[in-house]
Amino acid sequence: MLKLVATTIWLLLPAYTPNNFAVVFGGGAPIDLGRNFIDGRRILGNGKTIRGFIAGVIGGLIVAHIQLFTESFAGFSLFSSLEYETFFLLSFSLSFGSLFGDVVGSFIKRRCGFERGASFPLLDQLSFLLFALLFASRIEGFEKLYTTEVIVAAVILTPLLHVLTNVIAYKLGLKEVPW
Ligand code: CTP
Ligand code: MG
Repeated sequence: MLKLVATTIWLLLPAYTPNNFAVVFGGGAPIDLGRNFIDGRRILGNGKTIRGFIAGVIGGLIVAHIQLFTESFAGFSLFSSLEYETFFLLSFSLSFGSLFGDVVGSFIKRRCGFERGASFPLLDQLSFLLFALLFASRIEGFEKLYTTEVIVAAVILTPLLHVLTNVIAYKLGLKEVPW
């Protein structure tokens, strides 16, 4: 059980971390260039920037490469069981898919009338995961690492991890509210 949890988190770090890089390095021109959709609301909003998107993809790739090196020192083999080219395509798909899903989530939030930064439980935590897995599932050998067990664990764990990290950040005084 604990092993499944650890494996799932490890395999999904390249999808979990891009948004953190976007938060830190984002800013500048929004992806929608400030334009509105036909409903008169912003297409995506100012929370989705070009720089954040690019920094997030690069950040996810860096994390995946650090994991690849860590595996060889720690003596276990998940990402390192893949050919390098396959590994690269997989980590790019997870990272790009994660930010693409984040953008889709914002598009849906704006259509529902939620302002930038408003929380939309489950959509906020699962749209990035869904698209990361969808893009990654196109890569050969995906199902060898991302078994049904891992995917089910991911869908359950991701919202829980989100709640947990926010509560910890609140307790540490890094966040104003515990959600
Ligand atoms: N960010 C960015 N570019 C992205 C994604 C995120 O610059 N592609 C930065 C923005 O500063 C954003 C912050 O990371 O405000 C937090 O990201 P997120 O919670 O996804 O955005 P929100 O501001 O909450 O906007 P939304 O309501 O559209 O989700
Ligand atoms: Mg948000």
